[in-house]
Amino acid sequence: MPDHRPPPTALLLPMILAIPDLLSPNTLAAARAKLEAASWVDGKASAGHQGARVKHNEQLPAEHPVALEIGNILLQAMSQNPLFMSAALPLHILPPMFNRYAGGQTFGTHVDGAIRTIPGSGHRIRTDLSCTFFFAEPEDYDGGELIIEDTYGSKSVKLPAGQLILYPSTSLHQVTPVTRGTRLCSFFWLQSMIRSDQQRSTLFDLDIAIQRFGKEMAAHPSVVQLTGIYHNLLRQWAEM
Ligand code: NI
Repeated sequence: MPDHRPPPTALLLPMILAIPDLLSPNTLAAARAKLEAASWVDGKASAGHQGARVKHNEQLPAEHPVALEIGNILLQAMSQNPLFMSAALPLHILPPMFNRYAGGQTFGTHVDGAIRTIPGSGHRIRTDLSCTFFFAEPEDYDGGELIIEDTYGSKSVKLPAGQLILYPSTSLHQVTPVTRGTRLCSFFWLQSMIRSDQQRSTLFDLDIAIQRFGKEMAAHPSVVQLTGIYHNLLRQWAEM
């Protein structure tokens, strides 16, 4: 039976993609409980000059044991998630950080810095994609939408707990004031093997199409030919 449901697609450029079910419900609940019990600090500590002016939230210090533990759980989950790997084609992922917003806190319109240093290593990475992972359910808080502005206007994102949003770091974005409850998230950046949003999105669409084709007609000779084309494009465009 052909599958005529629309596939996840990046044809709307630049790509803003939700990755569902990154953590199991049990892992998610345990992580959330640990985060809620941790001690948090003012988020301005890690903001750049422009960001500090508009940033009002709390963060876990990068070296906090809970941040390290849950950050590693997220990194592990992403490396095993085919949708994430296909969409991001990550080269380096910065250690996940954690923030929370409550009592009207907000992060006004800003851009993410282009270059970030991996703590403790001195290694610098280019931020191609920004990621936000949601620990709280949308009904747990009012406000707290992530508004991403792109070429096609602005998109409002508030995902169920356990989901990750992937969006181009080139975008202007903001988090609207949280007027009830607490918004609890992880946020981080990655450098992709494919620098260009357009090339990365093309590879993602091709990969999704080949997988669907292969599922329905595994023996068709075009499946292996198209797979070869995918890898030859990746070989031309990837930088490491
Ligand atoms: Ni940001």
